[in-house]
Amino acid sequence: MNEEQRLQSGLVKSTAAAEKDYSKYFETVYTPPSLKNAKKRGKEEIAYHDDFQIEERFLGMGNGRKFYIRTYGCQMNEHDTEVMAGIFTSLGYESTNTVDDADVVLLNTCAIRENAENKVFGELGHLKPLKLERPDMLIGVCGCMSQEESVVKKILQTYDQVDMIFGTHNIHRLPNILHEAYMSKEMVVEVWSKEGDIIENLPKVRHGNIKAWVNIMYGCDKFCTYCIVPYTRGKERSRRPQDIIQEVRQLAANGYKEIMLLGQNVNAYGKDFEDLDYRLGDLMDDLRKINIPRIRFTTSHPRDFDDHLIEVLAKGGNLLDHIHLPVQSGSSDILKIMARKYSREQYLQLVGKIKKAIPNVTLTTDIIVGFPNETDEQFEETLSLYKEVGFEMAYTYIYSPREGTPAAKMVDNISMEVKKERLQRLNKLVNEMSAEAMKPYKGTVVKVLVEGESKRNPEVLAGYTEKNKLVNFRAPRSVIGEIVNVKITEAKTWSLDGEFIGVVEEDKVMS
Ligand code: SAH
Ligand code: SF4
Ligand code: F3S
Repeated sequence: MNEEQRLQSGLVKSTAAAEKDYSKYFETVYTPPSLKNAKKRGKEEIAYHDDFQIEERFLGMGNGRKFYIRTYGCQMNEHDTEVMAGIFTSLGYESTNTVDDADVVLLNTCAIRENAENKVFGELGHLKPLKLERPDMLIGVCGCMSQEESVVKKILQTYDQVDMIFGTHNIHRLPNILHEAYMSKEMVVEVWSKEGDIIENLPKVRHGNIKAWVNIMYGCDKFCTYCIVPYTRGKERSRRPQDIIQEVRQLAANGYKEIMLLGQNVNAYGKDFEDLDYRLGDLMDDLRKINIPRIRFTTSHPRDFDDHLIEVLAKGGNLLDHIHLPVQSGSSDILKIMARKYSREQYLQLVGKIKKAIPNVTLTTDIIVGFPNETDEQFEETLSLYKEVGFEMAYTYIYSPREGTPAAKMVDNISMEVKKERLQRLNKLVNEMSAEAMKPYKGTVVKVLVEGESKRNPEVLAGYTEKNKLVNFRAPRSVIGEIVNVKITEAKTWSLDGEFIGVVEEDKVMS
């Protein structure tokens, strides 16, 4: 097909046609996602559904077709991809790990920083020639970027290779969206600007059979001034305890060894229940009784980390003694304008309490440098806090303004050069402290959940300790998926090398 035939067939839209579609969308079909509406978070009811079903008319839609999903961003997005893979599979699609033979390509996007978004626009550019070659291929954009008004407009105006855009509250609508995209010549846009529902029984195709993600809550109400998540993911809403417990039991029965409980702010779990006094501490106390070797959770906001949770975590067992506790900055003044709702002193107090209750605890964190007008002294406070807490790892970022957030309106007089220098200095400290934390492991025996071949050398196996340290060692492939004892022979900055001793017996895993 040449360009003209393709245009006539309606499979490819011209830019002019896309622009026409665009104004039409805004007048009639499509209400753009709106940050203003998202901020007016109020009494909107959260609907709870456990009756999801693939409509009969869609069954077999994917027969003979393949899907490919590229995921950006956090573990919540990774888990959403597992749900979408579940829906595709229920529709009869097969998965493929290359775009070249995919009939549907989805980009499950992240909006947290500008460079995350740029990667997606770059990828859309790469997909354009493929779309021109195979006009019947569908390209979709979903995830957090689709919740942003400006992104949807930009795609409608300039990325006519895209066939569908759908939001984080529309995942369960994937069958309808695909159906419409096959039938329609226009870009299908379905982005609900709402607080979000809870949909229980969506199908899932999990990545692997050793570790599993389990959502415990969705959304975020914290509105840190720099952050886009509360706008893209809706209001904080918790899954019912019995649904979570049931899912974890099922995963344990299916042989999974590790559960990662997910939420943007898991410590707010249960705050939204009107009929139930049940918080994260209660949930962890119930989950620890399930016969599964390891349970982790992410991400903890320091503000809602209560004493009961600390008490329950101190019971140990399958509740691991590694806590990821993002601090963002060591300066109370910066924390205040970030609206984190705690001060340096309060954070340190919380760390003190945790360390007292769980003496062996490993703490890791997230830090933003170069928040608008951050002074040298304020940055120094971040370095000193990092040392004082004794973090063993951190994800570190240069502040990235996100359109529509309060911080994006702040005038900033710190140059990018200074911000980069600060990031470098912080990363140097992060590396040093990680190396320091690794040293004492030399000569000790650690329990490792074996995940598979090491990325660098297929003859070496790799896995993680309870404290999330990467360990490389040689052992028979039959131990993949098992928890094994490894004697550490060498400690590096970010990983440990060791010698395989043997598989840990089941009852010892649980001790
Ligand atoms: N809910 C989690 C964080 C989720 S986002 C929490 O509050 O702990 C993951 C990390 O991205 C954040 O902890 C923060 O360090 C970083 N981040 C978020 N918005 C950012 C922005 N605008 N610029 C740079 N980093 C950002
Ligand atoms: Fe963003 Fe703050 Fe919510 Fe974390 S707690 S997702 S940083 S608004
Ligand atoms: Fe990114 Fe959305 Fe997660 S913005 S970090 S994918 S919640």
